[in-house]
Amino acid sequence: MISAGRISITSYLGPGDVERALRADVLAGLTSQPKELPPKWFYDKAGSDLFDQITRLPEYYPTEAERDALLHFAPEIVELAGADTLVELGSGSSDKTRVLLDAMSDSGRLRRYVPFDVSDSALREAATMLAQRYPTLQIDGVVGDFDHHLGMIPKASRDESISGTPTPTGRRMLVFLGGTIGNYEPSARRELLANLAGTLEPGESLLLGTDLVKDPGRLVAAYDDRAGVTAAFNRNVLAVVNRELDANFLVTQFDHHALWDAENEWIEMRLRSRVAQAVDVRAIDLQIEFRPGEEIRTEISAKFRKAGLETELAEVGLEMVGWWTDHNGDFALSLSRRRG
Ligand code: SAH
Ligand code: TRP
Repeated sequence: MISAGRISITSYLGPGDVERALRADVLAGLTSQPKELPPKWFYDKAGSDLFDQITRLPEYYPTEAERDALLHFAPEIVELAGADTLVELGSGSSDKTRVLLDAMSDSGRLRRYVPFDVSDSALREAATMLAQRYPTLQIDGVVGDFDHHLGMIPKASRDESISGTPTPTGRRMLVFLGGTIGNYEPSARRELLANLAGTLEPGESLLLGTDLVKDPGRLVAAYDDRAGVTAAFNRNVLAVVNRELDANFLVTQFDHHALWDAENEWIEMRLRSRVAQAVDVRAIDLQIEFRPGEEIRTEISAKFRKAGLETELAEVGLEMVGWWTDHNGDFALSLSRRRG
């Protein structure tokens, strides 16, 4: 644990853990048919910076749409949630989060922010930025993987430890923005939502940002921008494997593809090898062959409809109590509470 003023950052990812998980994912993904790689490996320092650039692309509407919805409805959301602690999953640069923190601060409720991200560098930068902006905010960052470390999120009841005196509520609002939930396959998504529901205590809530089904042309453009930033982001996952597992992917010989899967209502991202290549992943002693044109599936980004999401939430015991969209109806925020 490293402390600086009111910032504490606890990492649950030792260098050994990260490499072990990456080895397992690369072995399972590249030996399956079709080949695939899971999305969390996009976000090393270079990948997090590229994602930041994606959020500023003209084609990538989700970030500004979500910000628009937050700007309009944050006071209402914050009132409904009644929380003094904001826990954010996949917080990244925590940029849009400021809208929520401002609303909590305006209502006199803001005490504590717990950013949770697999990217150590993004989390540290964000915590430093926020500590300057909110001088009285307690920031307790968690570097971890939400597939494994949700249990490490500080509980409301442990709040005495932050100031030495018991806090009046310590009630948390769990926030998961950016449509990141859509990067999970339906079965894994259900498991993650169930785990999130399980971390909520009575009276606590989950604010979820989800992109909505819309014209496929706009959807594909958002994941295949003209400047090629998304392509660079997608290819970066191969650079991560080359560096971390001593592999020799010919990174520049892969083309980026984004396509709309109308049946599943998700965008699928792929990397297609232009050439035949034999890739050696030396750290796990794995040799894999690519035929010219052969693809790796790297990411899905599911798009939602209100009724479907409401059902999925209900299936894990969460009741949707609020639904808001940006003025174009492109992107939704929903607030849910645990039933019972
Ligand atoms: N919330 C920000 C960033 C979204 S990008 C926004 O809305 O713009 C997704 C973020 O989730 C990245 O910062 C990435 O590092 C993080 N992330 C992805 N998979 C993760 C995992 N399994 N565990 C923890 N964080 C993860
Ligand atoms: N959560 C973001 C989304 O689904 C992540 C993202 C945006 C992304 N562009 C991407 C992931 C390109 C992989 C490739 O919109």
